[in-house]
Amino acid sequence: MKIGLCGVGTVGSGVVNLLNNNAEAIAQRLGEPVQLSKVGARRDSDKCDLSSLRVVRNVMDIATDPDIDLLVELIGGTSTAYDLVKTALASHKHVVTANKALIAEHGEELIHLAQENRCMLRFEAAVAGGIPIIDILCGALAANRIQQIVGIINGTSNFILSSMAKEGLGFDDALGVAKQMGYAESDPSFDIEGIDAAHKLAILASLAFGTPLDYFNVAIEGIAGVDAQDVKYAHKLGYSIKHLGIARLHRENNKELIQMRVHPALIPKETLIAQIDGATNALMIDAEPLERSVYIGQGAGVGPTSSAVVADIIAIARAGKGSRVYPPSAFQLTMRNHIETQAAEDIVTSNYLRLNVEDKPGVLAQITA
Ligand code: HSE
Repeated sequence: MKIGLCGVGTVGSGVVNLLNNNAEAIAQRLGEPVQLSKVGARRDSDKCDLSSLRVVRNVMDIATDPDIDLLVELIGGTSTAYDLVKTALASHKHVVTANKALIAEHGEELIHLAQENRCMLRFEAAVAGGIPIIDILCGALAANRIQQIVGIINGTSNFILSSMAKEGLGFDDALGVAKQMGYAESDPSFDIEGIDAAHKLAILASLAFGTPLDYFNVAIEGIAGVDAQDVKYAHKLGYSIKHLGIARLHRENNKELIQMRVHPALIPKETLIAQIDGATNALMIDAEPLERSVYIGQGAGVGPTSSAVVADIIAIARAGKGSRVYPPSAFQLTMRNHIETQAAEDIVTSNYLRLNVEDKPGVLAQITA
């Protein structure tokens, strides 16, 4: 298996280092070593040693290189990465990516392209880093009908909210630490506006319900509007504020719909999800016949992400040796469900409102009226 890795930023250099540091343990599991043949990077990295590798400056050269069997895309974003992955699949190369935006927004096209070219496309690192949730949905839970997935899927938001609640940090200070720790996206507005969580939720929903990816219909609200006062009031009322992703089958007027929403929510403090702090992610799945199962692990950072990327590389190398792997859509492409997503404005939930009012008689009466 000749592997070309594109992008040696935080995650890419983490993958190079992991393949070096755990080379022996990986070879013991696979039966042979996993080695990178080429690296595509616009510039060198000070986080990993590329001196023994062939480095090309134009990543597209790797996508068309006849000597490469598997391309690992760790550039991020949806422009170059999209062209790169499309070209690689069209050139009959397997692809591993950690790019949730790419899969959420262009996954349908890429999954079909992978199928047409008889290639594998794997993206375990795209959702909840250290929790192997894609493997779980596609593999361990393959016998179930899934009713809902609820969880914390943006490590940066959870880190900010729990730092505000537990350490009394302000929003901006907490975000600053999340950036330093390598949790936040290069554009952190993706984290705090809920976009990153929406990308991940769209992927989870598609795999869980066997429906085409529908990112553009996720109802999105981030944590940007939550401030220290809300955290304090939530605490007084017996709640923690968590940023949740919720995907569920919803029945209304005898019609089945999919509901996908990401937003901050008040969670009773004594529940498990309320106690998940820092960059940790948690996912709770209700399925039939399994019933409820819960998965917890690090959701962001170089360790969990590179662990998931390398697991995908190993899975493809194993498949090359004869083991079967699941299709990237979890369900067979020709046998998927087509269930409409409920419009964001039709979703009914409880709400918390905080009003700044003048402290004088009659104000509350006006509001309640
Ligand atoms: N920015 C993302 C997060 C990284 O905070 O969850 C992992 O996908």
